[in-house]
Amino acid sequence: MRGLFITFEGLDGSGKTTQIEMAARRLRRQGFSVLLAREPGGTRSGDEIRKIVLSSRTKRLDPRAEVLLYFASRAQNVAEVILPALDRGAIILCDRFTDSSRAYQGGGRQLPPHAVEDLDRIACQGLVPDRTILIDIAQRQSVVRARKRNTRTGRDESRFEKENAAFFARVRKAFLTIAKKDPRRVHVIDGNRTPEEIHEDIWNDLWDLIHSSGMRPR
Ligand code: TYD
Repeated sequence: MRGLFITFEGLDGSGKTTQIEMAARRLRRQGFSVLLAREPGGTRSGDEIRKIVLSSRTKRLDPRAEVLLYFASRAQNVAEVILPALDRGAIILCDRFTDSSRAYQGGGRQLPPHAVEDLDRIACQGLVPDRTILIDIAQRQSVVRARKRNTRTGRDESRFEKENAAFFARVRKAFLTIAKKDPRRVHVIDGNRTPEEIHEDIWNDLWDLIHSSGMRPR
């Protein structure tokens, strides 16, 4: 039986990573086979692309080059990791996917929407998430949390930190517009609460999805 492809989206610092880990732990305890994926990255070549797009040393990256790099990483992730895991019947929890390109490159960088959709068709082989969890936080909170995290980890992944408030406001608006247009797939979760409260909402949502798909633990 085909597995489930679930993506997590939101601004930097929205708490996606914590929530993915909490959901994965609980699903595994229930006996499901879970695979974690992330973008950009997730494969050897994707991790190399990640360094280029996130490093503050990457200067003057043209928005078109940027979107192509994200989709190059995604194409490899879909072909090498995600589709094979779906065929094995796994539940895939993916940290960001095409909605991030819609929001950051379409909304933030203001590339024409059709450019992102054309690239999605080429890179993703028709793959659309079964469910997208959008963790929504105010953009002011996003910048503060992301900066703290980059300082704490010492990783140079701060290129986006240099963007201004207007950029992140456009990104957030684009995410919410996607959710409005596709409410069956994209569920908005209020991220301005404790991790446990947010987890309970996500868990109930995923449990409904698993139940209605007829999936059973192995
Ligand atoms: P990520 O590693 O998920 O960072 P965080 O944990 O802070 O959310 O994503 C890295 C950055 O890449 C993030 O600022 C969003 C950006 N991004 C895009 O601009 N377009 C994309 O298609 C993706 C996947 C990410």
